[in-house]
Amino acid sequence: MRVGVYPGSFDPVTNGHIDIISRAARIVDKLIVAVALNAGKNPLFQLAERTAMVTEDVKLLADKGASIEIMSFNGLLIDFADQVGASVIIRGLRAVSDFEYEFQMAAMNARLNPKAETAFLMASDRNHFISSRFVKEIGALGGDISHFVSPNVAAKLRARFSDAGE
Ligand code: PNS
Repeated sequence: MRVGVYPGSFDPVTNGHIDIISRAARIVDKLIVAVALNAGKNPLFQLAERTAMVTEDVKLLADKGASIEIMSFNGLLIDFADQVGASVIIRGLRAVSDFEYEFQMAAMNARLNPKAETAFLMASDRNHFISSRFVKEIGALGGDISHFVSPNVAAKLRARFSDAGE
């Protein structure tokens, strides 16, 4: 059975992530969406909140393909991939600007654990411009984020920013 890991910060999960999840689930037997603690990135949402948002969005996927499990992890991705028996690490690629970072990460991970292969899925044209960072910025400034995230995530973002404004 081919197990794939789709890791990320998911701060918060966007429609772009969900698109990659649904497509990745069609090319592996089991997909583990791995939500990284990544405390160094100073996330807007706690690990448990980010994991819950991914879980809620994945529940809404009509065509799941393979079985999808949502987990969180702290530590090295390749150690996590080993623990869950994953042979492939899936990442989404949007613009050329993603390439250098992704290339470096894939190469570092390959050196650390050559058994886990990184595979890239190109973001769909509808989603290639969506990033969690801009979604947060637009949300913080009161813009409409409904095209980029699910209604659940949009509500969580609005609540977070209205709390911050109080
Ligand atoms: O969504 P992101 O923030 O681009 O995801 C980055 C992530 C979580 C995949 C990356 O930071 C990661 O793998 N973190 C775990 C720690 C690790 O293994 N670091 C070494 C990477 S070469």
